[in-house]
Amino acid sequence: MPEKFYVTTPIYYPSDKLHIGHTYCTVATDTIARYHRLKGEEVMFLTGTDEHGQKIEDKAKEAGVTPKQFVDNIVEGPQGVKDLWKLMNISNDRFIRTTDDYHVSAIQKIFKKMYDNGDIYKGTYKGKYCKPCESFWTESQLKDGCCPDCGRPVADAEEEAYFFRLSKYADRILDLLENTDFLQPRSRVHEMVNNFIKPGLEDLCVSRTSFTWGVPVDFDPGHVVYVWIDALFNYMTALGYCNDKYHDLDRFWPADVHIVGKEIVRFHSIIWPAMLMSLGLPLPKHVFGTGWLLLDGGKMSKSKGNVVDPYLLAQRFGVDALRFFLLRAFPFGTDGIFSNELLIQTINTDLANDLGNLVSRTTAMSGKYFGQHLPADCGPTEDERDLAGMVAQSRGTFGMIGSFPEEDPRKYDVELIALAAGLRDRYEEAMDALAPHKALEEVFKLIQRANKYIDENKPWLLAKDEANKPRLAHVLYNLLECVRISAVLLTPFMPETCEKIFAQIGAEEEQRTWQSAGAWGLLPAGAAVNKGENLFPRIDMEKELKALEELHAQAQAAAQEAEKAPETITIDDFNKVHFVTAKILDCQPVKKSKKLLCFTLDCGEGKPRQILSGIHEYYEPEELIGKTVVACTNLAPRKMMGLESNGMLISAVKEEPDGSEKLHLIMLDDKVPAGYGLC
Ligand code: MSP
Repeated sequence: MPEKFYVTTPIYYPSDKLHIGHTYCTVATDTIARYHRLKGEEVMFLTGTDEHGQKIEDKAKEAGVTPKQFVDNIVEGPQGVKDLWKLMNISNDRFIRTTDDYHVSAIQKIFKKMYDNGDIYKGTYKGKYCKPCESFWTESQLKDGCCPDCGRPVADAEEEAYFFRLSKYADRILDLLENTDFLQPRSRVHEMVNNFIKPGLEDLCVSRTSFTWGVPVDFDPGHVVYVWIDALFNYMTALGYCNDKYHDLDRFWPADVHIVGKEIVRFHSIIWPAMLMSLGLPLPKHVFGTGWLLLDGGKMSKSKGNVVDPYLLAQRFGVDALRFFLLRAFPFGTDGIFSNELLIQTINTDLANDLGNLVSRTTAMSGKYFGQHLPADCGPTEDERDLAGMVAQSRGTFGMIGSFPEEDPRKYDVELIALAAGLRDRYEEAMDALAPHKALEEVFKLIQRANKYIDENKPWLLAKDEANKPRLAHVLYNLLECVRISAVLLTPFMPETCEKIFAQIGAEEEQRTWQSAGAWGLLPAGAAVNKGENLFPRIDMEKELKALEELHAQAQAAAQEAEKAPETITIDDFNKVHFVTAKILDCQPVKKSKKLLCFTLDCGEGKPRQILSGIHEYYEPEELIGKTVVACTNLAPRKMMGLESNGMLISAVKEEPDGSEKLHLIMLDDKVPAGYGLC
């Protein structure tokens, strides 16, 4: 039975198009998944989208579509989440959407289980709410009176709600964090313990009544499940927990590692294990908190207008170069500062100068001096094989690499082979420690050493004398082997490029495997070598920076334009909407809702019409009775808090600096009769 490995990315919140920061986390997870597949393990790599919550409901409303239509477009539509992962060559085995039916009903069962076991109970929530983050906070958790995650203002909140007994699990969570390697890197443990556990873990509010776009609590209509419960359990429902769609829970749970961004470590390392403890379920083995990709010292966000578009970069530099850059330039686990300069510099230095040059010089010289095939006897000597074997056996620690007189060029061979033979073990150690940047560092030590080996051996001089041809062939063979081993280990990072390299050096399937990367001399001496295309042409930094700046400016202008100018509609479209003048006959607050008012209206139809409107924050019901307003009467009926709404009252909307909205009901002169159409 192969070893199994279950790895996940966070499931993305499809409120906007994804940017390079999201891409970073998914590319990293993909590389880890590919590494485990390369080792022959049975891998389950899950990603997906987290589609519920007030922000989505609000954005959909703004866009004039249903929440489901809104998320469908961002997840499945052109340049949507799935498109981006396809472009970036993401090899996920499964994709979960939290709006999938099987997940929704599983969440209802999970919520009920925790209610039945007493860990979820009903109470009243009083506190602060950050709308953009959809997070509730206690006064003591706020930073300068604002949301500790995003720094934006929070609002007072009070509502009847269900709570999860998080406090009950405080000691076990503290023990888990402090005394095991559950949460990595270690620095994240101190953050969690000092910021959240030491101040005291309070019970967590896990239901909402202020909006409807969520998983309904099936035993208490009007409540929807807190989006983080809905989201976190994706890791298990996607394997079949509480549903019949999948049946891999026994095989893959507990997860080997959840890769998550640093701001959601709290949810994954405190709330998630506590809920699993409540249900008596095994905990994931590890949670790894990555850093952020920052820009101009701050986080990328659409509202700041500083997002970096992965489509644009992939189109200009190629998918593999972008994947490579993300993992080479930023130590995994700490913040990194993205810049176009760094991107171009990394491509030029590592990919064009080091890797690209090594491959093109080696294949070009093999072709030039020997045609397509090196001589059959140019492979490794017995001594070289022994040396490589000893290095591999000692897991790279073998120190004695023989002694040759100063003028004997075989000393270069020995150094090169020893480095190559120990590489796979050093790489494995780094990858297993979730340090892909260190694994790349090791591979590039060999690539740089091999380039130096070319300069030391000067093949162009060896080629001048027929008597040196055997030495020349051996030198080129050694170089091809270095290229082969490097390409095997680079495959998880740059799958397409490595395929091309294998084709250029004539490596067959069995010389591309994990096992083969740990052995020296596996490439047949007479393999067919073909110099192919230049893998990574050098980029002119100045020109490219200018081009990128222009493209970025164009894209921003287009986005601003699109935001300013709503899509135009025809007069026929406009005429489809029936606006009429309406007299308010009665107006009552809706039970259990802070926002909704229920209107009884005379719309000149001979019988009263019922419409619900979320304006209780701004008006008291009695002040509205008798007023004349504008109603849209041909909207499809919709149920809210158990009541049917047959249309919509028209209000003016003002966005406040904290992102909230203020509504002003449009009122007409009371002399205007009811039931008049508007044109
Ligand atoms: N929906 C939640 C995750 C639920 S998992 C049960 C969420 N979604 S998100 O779309 O907002 O973010 C997804 C991931 O992208 C997070 O891990 C977040 O840290 C990461 N990133 C978002 N911006 C980022 C950067 N600028 N840099 C690096 N990662 C960033 O959180």
